[in-house]
Amino acid sequence: MATLGVNIDHIATIRQARGGREPDPIHAAVLAELAGARGITAHLREDRRHIQDRDVYILKQTVSTHLNLEMASAAEMIKIAVDVLPFMVTLVPEKREERTTEEGLAVRERERELVKTISTLRENHILVSLFVNPDIAEIRAAAKIGATHIELYTGTYSNAANASIASDELETLKACAMAAHKLGLVINAGHGLNYQNVSPVADIDNMGELNIGHSIVARASLVGMESAVREMVSLIS
Ligand code: PXP
Repeated sequence: MATLGVNIDHIATIRQARGGREPDPIHAAVLAELAGARGITAHLREDRRHIQDRDVYILKQTVSTHLNLEMASAAEMIKIAVDVLPFMVTLVPEKREERTTEEGLAVRERERELVKTISTLRENHILVSLFVNPDIAEIRAAAKIGATHIELYTGTYSNAANASIASDELETLKACAMAAHKLGLVINAGHGLNYQNVSPVADIDNMGELNIGHSIVARASLVGMESAVREMVSLIS
């Protein structure tokens, strides 16, 4: 049965908007775990636009499910991962100008570099997942170079312009999950999943963790609004 991993990056995005201390992504991680999340994901970007180094070090101490550190395959990040020792690292492509990760890694193109990163992380007993496009050749390459897990990019499915395209994308995700399972990979998925589109992905055979961030933080900001306003009104009056 698929499980939920909560990506807390956008709690940090709100904090960084004012450069202060709140809301603290550590608090969000605790609440997510209390509500049933089976993992916590944080993406330490090279530009530090949301999650900060301090967050990753504290999450390592406080997360009681498992910590999935999302990061680029870059020397600075590898050094931090080896120091923090998260349960798992998910390697993603990273472009400065992008708003969010827009696609999977080019695994075959970057094979020589990725193989080194994966072996360094695995020597340090960190599980390694590669964020991949739903493409069987890329999944085979991920298995070949030593990844233990893949995270299937669901952005194309999530952003599909109509139901027929979404249904085709779903079939592609299913075929990829089947191929990955045969290769012995653990299958996670994420990107753009929300309250409307998650169920068919959660139903895919052998689906592991679904990493979801933006839609949960967006929903939380609305469903928490009434009580936050009520509390402030009561203080003022
Ligand atoms: N998985 C990966 C690898 C990501 O880069 C992201 C976005 O940070 C997510 C999952 C979560 O995507 P979303 O915020 O759209 O739920």
